[in-house]
Amino acid sequence: MSTIVEEDIQHVRQQTNIVDIIGEHVTLKKSGRTFRGLCPFHNEKSPSFHIDHAKQLYHCFGCGVGGDVITFLMKHEGLDFREAIEYLARKIGYTLNLEKTGNSGMRSGLLKACEEATCFYQRQLAGKAGTAARKYLAERKLEDLSEKFRLGFSPDWDSLIKFLKTKKLDGQMIGAGLAVRSERGRVYDRFRGRLIFPITDNQGRPIAFGGRVLDDSMPKYLNSPETPLFHKGSVLYGLHQAKNDLIRTDTAIIVEGYTDLLALAKHGITNTVATLGTAFTADHLKFLSRFVKKIVLVFDGDEAGLKAAERSSGYLDLARLPGHEVFNELVDKVETEILVAVLPISYDPASLIMKEGRESFQARVSGASPLINFLIDRIIQRHGAKKSGRVISAKEATRLISSLPSAVAQEEYMRYLADKLDLTYETITQEIFQSKRKLKDAGDEKKSDRSSAEREFLKLILQYPEKADAIEKVCIEEWAESDLKELGIFIKSMTGSERKTITDSLHGIDSSLQGLLSKLMIESLPVNDIEKYFRDIVLKLKELSLDHQIKLLRKELKEIKNEDKQSDQIFEKLLKLEHKRRELKEYAKDGGDS
Ligand code: UTP
Ligand code: MN
Repeated sequence: MSTIVEEDIQHVRQQTNIVDIIGEHVTLKKSGRTFRGLCPFHNEKSPSFHIDHAKQLYHCFGCGVGGDVITFLMKHEGLDFREAIEYLARKIGYTLNLEKTGNSGMRSGLLKACEEATCFYQRQLAGKAGTAARKYLAERKLEDLSEKFRLGFSPDWDSLIKFLKTKKLDGQMIGAGLAVRSERGRVYDRFRGRLIFPITDNQGRPIAFGGRVLDDSMPKYLNSPETPLFHKGSVLYGLHQAKNDLIRTDTAIIVEGYTDLLALAKHGITNTVATLGTAFTADHLKFLSRFVKKIVLVFDGDEAGLKAAERSSGYLDLARLPGHEVFNELVDKVETEILVAVLPISYDPASLIMKEGRESFQARVSGASPLINFLIDRIIQRHGAKKSGRVISAKEATRLISSLPSAVAQEEYMRYLADKLDLTYETITQEIFQSKRKLKDAGDEKKSDRSSAEREFLKLILQYPEKADAIEKVCIEEWAESDLKELGIFIKSMTGSERKTITDSLHGIDSSLQGLLSKLMIESLPVNDIEKYFRDIVLKLKELSLDHQIKLLRKELKEIKNEDKQSDQIFEKLLKLEHKRRELKEYAKDGGDS
């Protein structure tokens, strides 16, 4: 059994309008500030059924029934509460998040514990126990950031657990990763004597913590373990605070450390997020690509240059992917430019900006190399510039380049490679020729994805008119091919029964479309599994429509810039659409049936 999460219930309530919903069942007439109609719950001749739009309530002055949109649906449609919520969710095309019973209580309990712990740590930092931590922050010139990032301090051994007990959260403190149980069964605070960095979800709710020692002891950082709230590989530190600036600048700067992020914020560079001591993953990329067009990965420079190389090969777990399908898919679909900046030896973003200032850091970011150039450089570095090395480098790099989806990009990188290896462009071209051609063919196919889906859809409903009502679901208004769109809109404007006999009434149609119509009616369809084919086409069109809506929202976001509330809302909407798109893909992958 699963329940609908509380936020969703709120969301669905807020996003639906009682007038629209009841209006589907009762004919309503506007009169002043209310809408009136004949009461559906008793027999009457003059309308005493009123809806107050502002209050989102209805009331019948005849029989006395009244309530909100949910009770209306329960009464009128005979739904229970849950079904009423589901009904509303469907109306606004919103996918409900279901949680297992018990689990929803568990999550919210853990969230509460994390929130209380954050407040506790904050108070400690501000109070007597936090003297040394405040001094440490002041030395690093990060004290003004305490508030925005809700920094805190964890005192010794059991102060947090004592506090959580007073809040009746002792049942949550281990699950939330805040307390540890020793082998002897004693429970004590996980974080002791550490400066605390709360890690939040993208709504800004603390879900985990990082804690730094105030001296040189080890380990330097301690992080929360994985919990039901916290999955290290998909969380980015500072995302909530950076959200609006990511959108505004269309760029995300990725650093490795908490303090890097804070130091940059201190200098007004706020479109930054930090990985949590892990590689930048494909999950991170997918997530960020909803908000930004450009991602700059900033690597620490280090003593021998060795650590950086090591780390970057970890970082470039992502880079491990070139030539692999996932990478192609990402680079292709995601359309996000990925750049790499390596800092000078023994600098990290925090120390660079503190020592050399904002401009110096900005210069590194603007001078960042595109990921592929960076990778080509690394290939060449690895094999050396001698003759035998050059051959291996050329082969390895061309393999990388030919795996890229864009022919234009390929040409650009081949020129880059030729230049670097001191070979002629022609030599490199020959090396790459075969795979390049293969890739170009695939590219052409891609481009016509949309129009072919549109065309196939129309063919299907013309040849199987009983399917014609699906035209309501495929967002004709957004279609790309103007004549297919025109024909589609014409079919959509027909009534259901007209659609079923569509082939009988061709004379009603504009003569300019008749040719197209008859062609679509006789063009062949794959005969094997029409149902599956149809389902796939409809899914494809839905997916394309979601892509389209997401693009529009992103544009909108950019235009409204800094207005917190509004952009927050659109941001949430975007997340939902993305979620829906993911679901659709999952569904399609499962060979979806419904
Ligand atoms: P760094 O060692 O570069 O730390 O590790 P930092 O963030 O620059 O901190 P300062 O400036 O020395 O105080 C980068 C990130 O790797 C993770 C943390 O997320 C850290 O921010 N890390 C590092 C750990 O999780 N544990 C460690 O012991 C060290
Ligand atoms: Mn560092």
